[in-house]
Amino acid sequence: MVSAKKEYGDFQTPLSLARQVSALVAQRMVRIGTVVEPTCGVGAFLQAAAEHFGESTSYWGFDINADYVETARAAVGRAGPSAATVEQRDFYTTNWEEFLSEQAGPVLIIGNPPWITNAGMGVIQGTNLPTKCNFQGHKGLDAKTGKANFDISEWMLVRLLRALQGSRAAIAMLCKTATARKVLRHAWVNGLNVGPSSLHLIDAAAEFGVAVDACLLYAHTGIGDTEFTATVYRSLSFDQPLQTFGMSNGELVSDVDIYRELRHLDGLQYRQWRSGVKHDAAQVMEFTREKNHFVNGLGERCQLEDEYLFPLLKSSDLANGRLQPRRFVLLTQNRVGDATETIKKVAPKTWRYLLDHSDYLDRRGSSVYARRARFSIFGVGDYTFSTAKVAISGLYKCHQFQAIGCAGGKPIVVDDTCYFIPCGSKQEADFFADLLSCETAQRFISALVFRDAKRPVTVDILRRIDLKRLAEHAGQVRAANEYLSASSLESEDQQLLFVDQISKQAGSPVGWR
Ligand SMILES: C[S@@+](CC[C@H](N)C(=O)[O-])C[C@H]1O[C@@H](n2cnc3c(N)ncnc32)[C@H](O)[C@@H]1O
Repeated sequence: MVSAKKEYGDFQTPLSLARQVSALVAQRMVRIGTVVEPTCGVGAFLQAAAEHFGESTSYWGFDINADYVETARAAVGRAGPSAATVEQRDFYTTNWEEFLSEQAGPVLIIGNPPWITNAGMGVIQGTNLPTKCNFQGHKGLDAKTGKANFDISEWMLVRLLRALQGSRAAIAMLCKTATARKVLRHAWVNGLNVGPSSLHLIDAAAEFGVAVDACLLYAHTGIGDTEFTATVYRSLSFDQPLQTFGMSNGELVSDVDIYRELRHLDGLQYRQWRSGVKHDAAQVMEFTREKNHFVNGLGERCQLEDEYLFPLLKSSDLANGRLQPRRFVLLTQNRVGDATETIKKVAPKTWRYLLDHSDYLDRRGSSVYARRARFSIFGVGDYTFSTAKVAISGLYKCHQFQAIGCAGGKPIVVDDTCYFIPCGSKQEADFFADLLSCETAQRFISALVFRDAKRPVTVDILRRIDLKRLAEHAGQVRAANEYLSASSLESEDQQLLFVDQISKQAGSPVGWR
């Protein structure tokens, strides 16, 4: 059965919190023509806004739930404004441009849209979704995987910002902090006009009983040119700024001040960062060793040949400096797309094991396994088997780069929560690990990483670290020349960019930094 609370992202805002939000909004908006609460629930925001902004403002509230509409009508009635309308409406079928253009400005859209992702909605088989889901314009694999997942509130906030273009207005809405950033990024990248914007952190556990990083997103439209930065404040006030994030070089950076200081390190990708292996079946593909047996995650003692087993480090190992592998992973392929049937001949016990556990492997949901050989894995290639690597976990807030090599004569591999550069030798891996651990590198990474993200470190962030400039910055010119030549640049485009930079450097009296 579909949980209605989940499907409708139904977390009603306490009146005290709605009052604090209204008080904050009033600090920057002196006159408000119309207040709109697009998913008003039982009406806390309508009541709080009416108490604050009084008689001279009109109030509109909508919700899909008819019972809530009744309750919200009573709530706003308690605050006593004469112009208040609360109606049952579906956000998705409302023509927001038409509705908003008919209202007296400036308009304030206030509230707290549903807290659920489209993937979460899929899991509970809910249908409370917009018809067009790929509004971020993702293509290929990104459209099939995590990148295309979005919060319903992200879709709604973008929809409202679009509808407000050309008018003087503001949005003040509670959402996850990651959602607020995505909404602003979407606006900045797609040329929407957003003026001064801020995020004010709230304690979602205390207010809503949910453990997520959440905030008030307060953004203005129609006042001057777009401002490509937003300040994060510790609370619902303008007193304690934490940092300012924004767009730079077409991407989000978490701290524009540090980024500006170190922006010369945002350069070329001399070495390609890779993701670790993905198999989506830890219980049957990962093992510990007990005497002569391997024991899988189901607690079964398994007879397997060594052939396809490799020492494995996971995120927690890298982040905690536990570099002696205690686990093994079964890698059924050397490259994506390899046939797996060969295992039958080379390692019959392993093949038998895979057949015996095929129910776990055959039911893996990810589309990356669709139409591939049975028991396929993903994120595997020659790089997986390099005898040395510099690796980092994507999941931890600390940015620990580790040099790893071989164990028991086999290359150590990492799982898909980790990233790495394959290296030709342990010295090379040590060089990169030291370089990436230096203070300058760590500060630069901290300017790019959003610490509250589910996966703070991503390949998109790592590829922005120009290892050559970093090495030069650290006085490691000789090693830089050895390990980071132009020919090690990953793509032809990058090589052309390099030639372009060198010729600019030659023609420039101040050098190319
Ligand atoms: C997170 S609750 C917040 C309620 C209210 N804004 C508040 O702050 O207390 C989200 C609300 O969105 C409403 N809702 C969900 N889907 C909707 C839709 N498609 N159209 C209109 N309202 C919707 C739910 O009924 C619920 O009341």
